[in-house]
Amino acid sequence: MQTVLSQALHTPRLIVRAIQENDLPDLFKVFSDDTVTRFLPYITWEDTLAAHSWYARAREMAAQASAVQCVIVDKESSQVIGSCLLFRFDTESERCELGYALAQSHWGGGYMAEALRALLTHAFGEMGINRVEAEVDPRNPASAQLLRKLGFTQEGLLRQRWKMKGEIKDTWMFSLLRDEWQAANRPG
Ligand SMILES: CC(C)(COP(=O)(O)OP(=O)(O)OC[C@H]1O[C@@H](n2cnc3c(N)ncnc32)[C@H](O)[C@@H]1OP(=O)(O)O)[C@@H](O)C(=O)NCCC(=O)NCCS
Repeated sequence: MQTVLSQALHTPRLIVRAIQENDLPDLFKVFSDDTVTRFLPYITWEDTLAAHSWYARAREMAAQASAVQCVIVDKESSQVIGSCLLFRFDTESERCELGYALAQSHWGGGYMAEALRALLTHAFGEMGINRVEAEVDPRNPASAQLLRKLGFTQEGLLRQRWKMKGEIKDTWMFSLLRDEWQAANRPG
């Protein structure tokens, strides 16, 4: 199992590629929005210091081979409009978790589904991952619907799993398996 994104991934409207430091100004527009960060495990960015410490953590996780942090680039504008990541790699079990966030200006256009289809194809193919997990706050229906649309199974509710931003939170556990993805996306 690999824990790196070996190439940029192209879709009709988007490029999914590894993050670079010069993506931070565009990402600031995404993560300085309380509506975007509402269900994410980190606080809304208020200044460039927050952006740089987030980036330092992403670099550290990449160095430890524990996460692949990607950005989503809109081909038409060349702007970074969101991020997606694979993290908590368990190489023995060929498993990881999936996270994602999109600029509010682009919600509802199928952009994240398009980006994640490319990332999941790469994860189940070249990276050799067998199971991808995603946790969703029950109050985040767009995220749950996105995962269902991609073929994830909603496995169960983990009660009071997190204490985050002063709240105790339940979480839905979703998962998708390599066999399921490959059966649903066989060419022809
Ligand atoms: C979750 C998120 C990435 C979705 O991005 P997106 O590009 O708008 O997603 P898509 O358009 O591909 O799909 C979203 C689906 O949810 C549906 N949806 C949107 N809002 C909804 C709501 N309030 N209730 C039910 N479904 C909803 C859309 O109709 C679409 O489903 P459909 O294609 O079957 O109609 C985006 O809302 C986001 O970045 N949210 C903030 C960050 C976040 O919460 N990340 C997830 C943490 S688990």
